[in-house]
Amino acid sequence: MDGNGRWARQRGRQRTSGHQAGFQSTRDIVEACARQQIEALTLFAFSSENWNRPQKEVGLLMDLFLRALKSEVSKLYDNNIRIRFIGERTAFQANLQDEMERAEQLTRSNTGLNLAIAVNYGGRWDIVNAARQLAVQVQEGTLVPGDIDTDTFSRHVSLAGIPDPDLFIRTGGEKRISNYLLWHLAYTELYFTDVLWPDFSEIELHNALNFYAGRQRRFGRTGEQVTEKHA
Ligand code: IPE
Ligand code: MG
Repeated sequence: MDGNGRWARQRGRQRTSGHQAGFQSTRDIVEACARQQIEALTLFAFSSENWNRPQKEVGLLMDLFLRALKSEVSKLYDNNIRIRFIGERTAFQANLQDEMERAEQLTRSNTGLNLAIAVNYGGRWDIVNAARQLAVQVQEGTLVPGDIDTDTFSRHVSLAGIPDPDLFIRTGGEKRISNYLLWHLAYTELYFTDVLWPDFSEIELHNALNFYAGRQRRFGRTGEQVTEKHA
């Protein structure tokens, strides 16, 4: 979700008003995905590198997270959405961690959209974290190194149990992954748009889904294999 700051600057406003507008966009897109029976949506809200922003902006973002969590969680529940947070959450202030926990507990039995919010998240951190967990198991004697394969690994990165993403969307014009779900994006279709996140409407979501619908996913096979019915 990139482009909040530029959106605000274009209007001669403070960057934070862009974050506020971005939050509205997030709300609309989550609702649209739930309505369209999309199985899972993961949003990159705050990267492990975003702490390097001016302290004031970080503080205001934290306030916005907290307010958003408090005001939205019952609506998520009503919409059968299951929310979880991925990333190193211990870096956040205690009340924010409590709200995350509360939202997860409240919605844990919901069966609709699997909504994940990446906070203080980094793709490399995720991979290293999985490796560390496996190393501990080896040290404890419950795992043999030779048994570690991609499936084992997948069970220890964030979002275990949720299918890898089919589609990645980055708004705001940059064409890079920026340390997002590095492990998970191996075969994901990548969609980049210049639209700034606060302007990313349901119509824009449809454009992205149409792009996805036009892709042929081969997973290493040939185009002929994929188009033949019983290949
Ligand atoms: C993304 O918008 C929102 C967060 C990282 C929280 P930016 O704040 O990065 O917006 P630009 O890139 O400065 O326009
Ligand atoms: Mg940015």
